[in-house]
Amino acid sequence: MISRKEFLKSASSIVAVTATVPLASFLEACTAARSVQASVIDNKVVIPVAQLPDLALPSSYAKVYVNSFANPFLLFYQETGELLAVLSTCSHRGCEVNKLRTKFECPCHGSEYDLRGDVLRGPAPEPLKSYKVQRLHDRIEFALKGTL
Ligand code: FES
Repeated sequence: MISRKEFLKSASSIVAVTATVPLASFLEACTAARSVQASVIDNKVVIPVAQLPDLALPSSYAKVYVNSFANPFLLFYQETGELLAVLSTCSHRGCEVNKLRTKFECPCHGSEYDLRGDVLRGPAPEPLKSYKVQRLHDRIEFALKGTL
């Protein structure tokens, strides 16, 4: 027969293991998104800065919807301070990828990309399209031509 002390010790180990895994997944997914509709002017996607007041917060990003694109652009600051936009269309079959804290993940067949859009795990054959972004005093913009 197992003593009460031994039972509690075993039970706490099981709880610690099961609590650790979901916490790691939770932290990985812990990002905050704001959705905005953007205009395209002279082939540039233009978003007023006032629509993105919390973009600079850690783990914050924006889903930028543009009429002619089925999936949104994901706009966020890299750890280097560089502002980047990545089209969320998976290069495998076009599903919308999800932004996690350290990578993008496709819910359809499991492809993963780093935060620059490079493939970490297939079946995605190519990187996500990424765009260099300019922050001006009143707006954020990026050109649709010439991906990084
Ligand atoms: S559509 Fe993204 S992995 Fe297949």
